[in-house]
Formats: sequence, structure tokens, C-alpha cells
Amino acid sequence: MEDKELVLIIDFYGQYNQLIARRVRECNVYSEIVPYKTSIEDIKKKNPKGIIFTGGPASVYETNAPKCDPAIFKLGIPILGICYGMQFMTDSLGGTVQRAEKREYGETSVNLDNCSKLFEGLDKQNICLMSHTDFVAKVPEGFKVIGNTSSCPVAAMENEEKNFYGIQFHPEVNNTVNGTKIISNFLFNVCKCKGDWKMSSFVKEQIEYLKNKIGDKKALCALSGGVDSSVAAVLLHKAIGKNLTCIFVDHGLLRKNEGDEVEQVFRKQFDINLIRVNAEEQFLEKLKGVTEPEAKRKIIGEEFIRVFEKEAKKIGKVDYLVQGTIYPDVIESGLGESAKIKSHHNVGGLPDYVDFKEIIEPLRDLFKDEVRKTGLELGIPENLVYRQPFPGPGLGIRVIGDLTKEKLDILRDADFIFREEVKNAGLEKDLNQYFAVLTNIRSVGVMGDGRTYDYTIALRSVKTTDFMTATWSKIPYNVLEKVSSRIVNEVKHVNRVVYDITSKPPATIEWE
Ligand code: XMP
Repeated sequence: MEDKELVLIIDFYGQYNQLIARRVRECNVYSEIVPYKTSIEDIKKKNPKGIIFTGGPASVYETNAPKCDPAIFKLGIPILGICYGMQFMTDSLGGTVQRAEKREYGETSVNLDNCSKLFEGLDKQNICLMSHTDFVAKVPEGFKVIGNTSSCPVAAMENEEKNFYGIQFHPEVNNTVNGTKIISNFLFNVCKCKGDWKMSSFVKEQIEYLKNKIGDKKALCALSGGVDSSVAAVLLHKAIGKNLTCIFVDHGLLRKNEGDEVEQVFRKQFDINLIRVNAEEQFLEKLKGVTEPEAKRKIIGEEFIRVFEKEAKKIGKVDYLVQGTIYPDVIESGLGESAKIKSHHNVGGLPDYVDFKEIIEPLRDLFKDEVRKTGLELGIPENLVYRQPFPGPGLGIRVIGDLTKEKLDILRDADFIFREEVKNAGLEKDLNQYFAVLTNIRSVGVMGDGRTYDYTIALRSVKTTDFMTATWSKIPYNVLEKVSSRIVNEVKHVNRVVYDITSKPPATIEWE
């Protein structure tokens, strides 16, 4: 293997494993996660500069506890064991792991020996996230204790000569205040990494990989105009050019000018093989009189598949179907069923209907911010890359109650004004999602000398990082005032504008 700098993360099924990978990459060192069963030969082939053992739910002394080949300790490669990873290291090298009477969980003050290379530059006391029941009672020979808490005698240990380190807490989560510094110390002080990995390297490697994998076969991609499918499509296009076909289903529920913008970028800027299907009438026909939000979602989702399928059939057999799945989608689908609030994200479906050999998900290991960086690397315009999330069912769930073209047009105009004024006020980057909703309330107003009886527009804007919880944005009154006055003056059939001041929970971000 060439001398590409790589840190290998050995997965023992901990819940934060992807975060470890992410933290390492944030330090500009490329990382990959591999199952704990990976053979020593395969590990050697990858030639890692360092190895990180993740945490995991098992107890190392149980019969079926996950363990990798102990030969890993003979490779001469630095190893950092986190939580279960440290316990596995201890058990394998002759130390003792025991079960504590009580689980230690939460942010804990840990005493760290900052003379160790791992804790260089840190204070002696650090807040770290502990989450364990088992603990290291005796370190293996050659190791010394470099950290403890009031209830955990070995919160960290090292064998400096062999470059083996273990920590009981989780440096990868934000609750561990100096966690990234600890990971960076491991990478640079212990593994002697250079830290020259950049998103541009990922892009180059992915294009090369996809080129080799797909060769001159054909791929198909459903383009929604959202960030993920756009980045996936451009990446594939760079790899296989005209052998990629993108189908963009315009369901008539997009924001003002959105369909044309997508077409402009993909057809004109990138010269991608793009089929735009204008299916507005078909969608509105199916949605006629439907008022229940979940029923709307279902119809829109199904209709989308039908339109896509019809177009795909015209192309005939393809070898690959490209999907813009990103890492958070992978985690979400991996988790157990939680209470269903809304049937989000339109996942599933497509593969059953299209004749293809294999799914390609080039962004599967990336977090959203990494996808955005990839997009910029690929030359996708900033306004598309930093676009706020837009739900699959589009304005279909922002017009409350039944949908008509007239209502959708009213909403499009009002929403456009809101977005324009947010931009003019320089608030775009502060607000994570903001849009207008056409309520099905009509109220009395006065315009000139006459009475009006028209629609109420609601403005919604939230600040959030994960979209699971959100707080309503405190947009300055003068901005709201301008938006309101422009909407009632410029958009026919709207005579009242209200601002939604509920957070999530109890409200959701979308109104339907
Ligand atoms: P809620 O309304 O549940 O929204 O607070 C959280 C995030 O999910 C988006 N959302 C959807 N995305 N299909 C999607 O692709 C949907 O049906 C859907 N419903 C909500 C919403 O815009 C917000 O970002």
C-alpha cells in the first residue's frame, strides 16, 4: 500500500464510533472504521499509523466478548483503547478488569497526568464523560496509571515504550471538554501523523474508486436538488461522465424558481445527463382534496416512485443506482423503532422498482458538514451547498389542508420574500431552517377602503443542530416587520402574517 496516512478504528460496537472517526478526520488524518474481526493481514495491508479501539457494550471477561487477534499488539503500531477498548487491551496484556457495583455515568472530573504525551497541554483536572460498569483494577505489566477519578482507580494508563494508551472515558463526545485535544495528542505526539488529509483527498480518491468500480457501466441517480443527492450526483458525474443519468422529478411542490435553478446547475454548469420530469399536474391530481398530513406524505412518496420508475424504464437496465445516503441516515435507520411522529425522509421504496444490480452510496461515511465540504470541492455553488434542509414532500406539507396550485403559488411568493429578507439582513447562516406556511385560516382585513377576507401566512424559523430539538429564532422585529409588510403588499390573497414562537418540542419544525 502507498504511504497514505491512515488511522484505523477497530469497532467493538460502541455507540460513538462514528464520532471517533469524525474527530480524527477533523484533525486532518484520514480514518476508517473496520470490524473487530478484521484479520491481522488485512490490518497490516492498510499500514495504519495508529489504531484506536472503540468502546462497546460487552464485558471483556464474558465468553462471547468481541476480541480481535492479540497479534495486533505485536505490530509495533501505537494503540489507543477507549472504554471497552482499554479493558480489552488490559485483559489481553495480562491486567485485570472487574465489574464495579455501580455504573459510573456522566460528566466526571478526572485527574490526568499532563506529563504524559497523551495529555500534553491539558490541566490536571478535566471534565470527561464516563460511561462504564467494568473498570481496570490492575494495569498490565509495563503500564503506568496516568489518570483516575474518585471512584475509578484507572481512568487512563500508558505504556510509553510500546505506545499503548488506554482511557476509560470518551474523548470523542463534546461532554469531554478537551477530548479533541487528547485525540490530537494521540495522533501527533504518539503516532507522529502529519495531518495532511483534506476533503480534496477524499474527493480525489472517491472519484478514482468509483471510476474503477463502475468502469463503463451505467448508473442512475434520483436528483432532488437537495445537498446530498446533488453532491452524490456530481461525484459520480466526475467519475463516469455521461454514463450517469440523473432523473429530477419536479413534483410542483418546490420553492419559487427551484426547479429551474437545479436544472441550470446540473445541465448547464456540469453538463450532466439530466432528465427533468415536470409532473406537477399529476401530483396535484392525486392530492386533490387530501388534507391529512400523513396521507399527503404517502401519496407524494408513492407518486414520486411511480414517476421515477416510468422514466427509469425508458432508460432500460442500469447497473448501479446512486443514492445520497449520508452517515446520519445510516445511524437513524440502524436504531430501533421509536415512536413515529412523522414518516420522514422518504427512505426505502426506490430499489424495489428499478432494474439495477447494486446500490452505490458514495457519501455513506460522511457527516453533513463533510458532505458540504465535498460539494464545495466539486465546484457546486455555495447557495446550493449551504441550502437549508427541505423536506421531500416539499410545500405539500407547508400548505395546511388541501392543496391547489393557487395556494402553492401564494406560498411560493410569500416564502420567497421571507428568504430574501433573511438574506438581506445577513441572517442566513444564523438560522438553521426558515420558511413560510400557508395556514388554512382566513381572516378579515382592511385594504384601502375595502374589507378583505384572505389567507394568513405563518413564518417559521428555528435554531437547531440536530433537528430533533429546536428553538424558535429571535429574528429582530424590524426584519419581521419588513417581511410582513412586503408579503401583505406583494402577495395577493394574504392579509395577515403571524410568527411562530414555539420550540420543538412540543411543536415540530414543520406544521404538518
Ligand atoms: P419536524 O417537522 O419533524 O422536522 O420537526 C424535522 C426535520 O425534518 C424535516 N422533515 C422532513 N423531511 N420528509 C423529509 O425528507 C418529510 O416528510 C419531512 N418532514 C419533516 C423538516 O423539514 C426538518 O428539517
